[in-house]
Amino acid sequence: MRLADKRILLGVSGGIAAYKSAELVRRLKDQGAEVRVVMTRSAKEFITPLTLQAVSGHPVADSLLDPAAEAGMGHIELAKWADLVLIAPASANLMARMAAGMADELLTTLCLATPATVALAPAMNQQMYRNAATQANLQTLAERDIQLWGPDSGSQACGDVGPGRMLDPLELVERCCQQLAAEPLLAGVRLLLTAGPTREALDPVRYISNHSSGKMGYAIARAAREAGAEVTLVSGPVALTTPAGVTRIDVESALQMHEAVMSRVGECDLFIGCAAVADYRPAQVAEQKIKKTGDNDQMQLTLVKNPDIIADVGALSDKPFTVGFAAETVDVEQYALDKLRRKRLDMIAANDVSRAGQGFNADDNALTVFWQGGQAALPLADKLTLARHLVALIARHYRP
Ligand code: PMT
Repeated sequence: MRLADKRILLGVSGGIAAYKSAELVRRLKDQGAEVRVVMTRSAKEFITPLTLQAVSGHPVADSLLDPAAEAGMGHIELAKWADLVLIAPASANLMARMAAGMADELLTTLCLATPATVALAPAMNQQMYRNAATQANLQTLAERDIQLWGPDSGSQACGDVGPGRMLDPLELVERCCQQLAAEPLLAGVRLLLTAGPTREALDPVRYISNHSSGKMGYAIARAAREAGAEVTLVSGPVALTTPAGVTRIDVESALQMHEAVMSRVGECDLFIGCAAVADYRPAQVAEQKIKKTGDNDQMQLTLVKNPDIIADVGALSDKPFTVGFAAETVDVEQYALDKLRRKRLDMIAANDVSRAGQGFNADDNALTVFWQGGQAALPLADKLTLARHLVALIARHYRP
């Protein structure tokens, strides 16, 4: 039972290999998976929903605009439910629609809305598979971190011989087992992580800070610990409980956070900078409380630049695998990509903090993660769910 408690959303698109989907559902269930099936319109020309309902034990979903289905497990709920979305068979047409980012029916919409890994088992005629348009679509999908499982090569239903056969159901089950392996994703990895705001003192009672609550960073600490990492959390001042098994170092200012990170970075394999570090601090910290004077309606502060912690980590000759965040209100992707390059990061999670209900001090968040040659969208979810998906994504790209 290598897939016990795992939730697999099986997408079936229109192709002759759709007849193998019933067998695939049965073999996934043999391994303990809970399977729900979503069919495209054309898939129903090849296999009936009734067959897949019978083998999966759940009604088959096929419509985006079905009030009865939405009243049960709606499409967003279904997208969040899955640990893995596997589309088998994935036709050339379906992959073209996915590459174009279309949400024209339930299955394509789910692929855009799910934070889970999406895997495709392509199946089509060998000439269609070799076509430049199909190859370009496959490349686009791979760059978006969609897993491509197969195709196999051999004799095809149409009589041709070549690449384009869907992988055997048992081979697909094996790939699902490997993808959802119980082995912790970050077993033994030493993670150093920053979280929360910094406070830049003006005098003994005042400071400059920001709205970071630490919730995102603490959720990452917990998710990474669950994934087997040894986690050291360098935390700005927050009102949160330390996740179980995590070592916490408390700091206040950016200078203290810089010192705490740089003195420990040599002993870590992975660094994640989630803290909202103040870029500037007051040039002078008054020893006594600054007094309001009767004749001055204005007060001028001189600020000096703080060290950029993550850029200093990125500049190390033996730097750890380094993941940054970019909290932006406009041109989010452009600024994130600039930070990825300039700070020599391996990955960056772009956080659009202009949207209500996500980002600073919210319970939910959404991220778009970029790396050299690829990106993945992690849609709106509570911060712990999002952190688990982010950790899984980092684990897939992590190179010691
Ligand atoms: O704490 P929450 O309320 O849960 O909110 C989460 C969050 C919005 C703070 C978090 O998701 C987030 O986006 N963190 C990064 C915030 C930020 O300061 O972004 P930035 O674009 O200014 O910085 C880019 C990167 O450089 C970040 O990895 C940051 O940690 C790092 N940095 C920035 C300045 C500096 N002096 N040193 C740094 O290391």
